[in-house]
Amino acid sequence: MKHKISPSLLAANFSNLAEDIEMINRSEADWLHLDIMDGVFVPNISFGFPVIKAVSRICEKPLDVHLMIVNPEKFIPQIKAVGAKIMNVHYEACPHLHRVIQQIREAGMEPAVTINPSTPVSLLKDIIEDVYMVLIMSVNPGFGGQKFIKHSIEKVKELRLLIDKTGSDALIEVDGGVNKETATLLLDAGADVLVAGNAIFSAPSPEEMIHQLKTL
Ligand code: DX5
Ligand code: ZN
Repeated sequence: MKHKISPSLLAANFSNLAEDIEMINRSEADWLHLDIMDGVFVPNISFGFPVIKAVSRICEKPLDVHLMIVNPEKFIPQIKAVGAKIMNVHYEACPHLHRVIQQIREAGMEPAVTINPSTPVSLLKDIIEDVYMVLIMSVNPGFGGQKFIKHSIEKVKELRLLIDKTGSDALIEVDGGVNKETATLLLDAGADVLVAGNAIFSAPSPEEMIHQLKTL
């Protein structure tokens, strides 16, 4: 399977989102990654439902929603209502992760579990067969434009082994500090989906950068 690219809207121009979303629509991007932060689970606040709704009306790509919030299960109906394809919840925010994963699936979305840099891959052993995707954070969540944590490569390799061993068909997504250099290392390690914010939106031509990441 050819890898997927999920540009992160967090690095877009918030005073002209429509223009950036039209670029995403034209581009080879597979999904659009939306980062929701609550100022509690992570030390930052991003955007909420009024913005997501406006984005979903004009975005033609499937929405890959990454919730960096406590109690994400409270918002399953609203995330579904904006037409999201994937709902990513953090392992660290869900003491009853298995239940939340089932609830997301029952709501008609693809459930994904996200792990912070300090959370071991081995903790996913008993949930790996129930999820559509695992999102490995390669920076501490909360901000765009941070430095890639190299150890994430080892985590991707370990997750690939776990997936192959269990016969799970979960996808591996990586988020944080992804650029052409780190993307190559991640793809070699077994990643299926790359999220990129600054590498795309700070490039002279974001559309061309999406093409370059897609053709690595
Ligand atoms: C960080 C977010 C990321 C972020 C990635 O908390 O989850 O999706 O936007 O941005 P870059 O690619 O700039 O590291
Ligand atoms: Zn994200």
